[in-house]
Amino acid sequence: MQARCEDEAQRFSFEAFTRHPFFTEVNRWIVERVICPGRRKIVDLGCGPGAVTKLIVERLGEDADNAEVIGIDPSQSALAKARAAIQSQWVRFVEGSAEWVSRLVSSADAVVFLNAIHLVPDKAQVMGEIRKALKPGGVFAFNTTFFNGAYVEGTSAFWRRWIVRAVQVLRERGLDVKHSAHAVAREFLTADQYADLCVQAGFARPSVEFVRIEMTPESLEDIGHFSLFIEGALPGVPLEQGADALHEGLRRAREETGVANVPRNWLECVAVAK
Ligand SMILES: C[S@@+](CC[C@H](N)C(=O)[O-])C[C@H]1O[C@@H](n2cnc3c(N)ncnc32)[C@H](O)[C@@H]1O
Repeated sequence: MQARCEDEAQRFSFEAFTRHPFFTEVNRWIVERVICPGRRKIVDLGCGPGAVTKLIVERLGEDADNAEVIGIDPSQSALAKARAAIQSQWVRFVEGSAEWVSRLVSSADAVVFLNAIHLVPDKAQVMGEIRKALKPGGVFAFNTTFFNGAYVEGTSAFWRRWIVRAVQVLRERGLDVKHSAHAVAREFLTADQYADLCVQAGFARPSVEFVRIEMTPESLEDIGHFSLFIEGALPGVPLEQGADALHEGLRRAREETGVANVPRNWLECVAVAK
């Protein structure tokens, strides 16, 4: 069972999506604001296959001396990819989860949690943990495109149509989506709700900005092949069938709407620990 799960995690990895230039752009936005001289102990929480860790190491550049970068993720297969991609004496990767990050790290200068906070069911608890892992004055930064405000005006019909068409494909193939399995974790918060949670967890009110990018057809294909996206969009559906249905659903939605690139907002948030 474990071997099958790991095999699936490899096949439905996030890696392909991380190669799109806009994805580097939305992550670099945060990394450039957070990584600066004097911040030496840096946690890349939910590091996945290491795309953000790589940006952190690049940003540290010659300042990497004495720096400590700790990539943390619950997925063994993602960590294996990260370890293979980044061999730096300043970086180590640890299996773990945001829910107990303060047991893994203390007195950090910065915790970045990119493209993952929407996956966490109890965001208040996790932000409290991150606060505990940081020094006073330390920085917590996160971004996500799964929030209330991600859809650029005029595009919500496209996103809805994509999922509706994928569900239609599944029904044609005798499969159904278990709506009851729709996790609370997938509830989209607004930027203000995220900012309020930061304040409740012991941070000064964060700076919040939106970065608008254009998602290309190839990037839509790649996100539709990522395990956590499939599970969020089509709860309860096996990954193989879900990925196929999202692929065909996307083809139908694009044909019907004539849409090629789809703009989308990323929420970028930086909070300082009190
Ligand atoms: C979409 S990937 C993002 C990876 C990386 N941060 C990036 O932006 O390229 C989301 C990652 O969050 C991790 N994740 C899911 N739940 C988590 C949790 N509770 N704590 C920490 N990481 C988590 C997943 O294993 C996955 O690697």
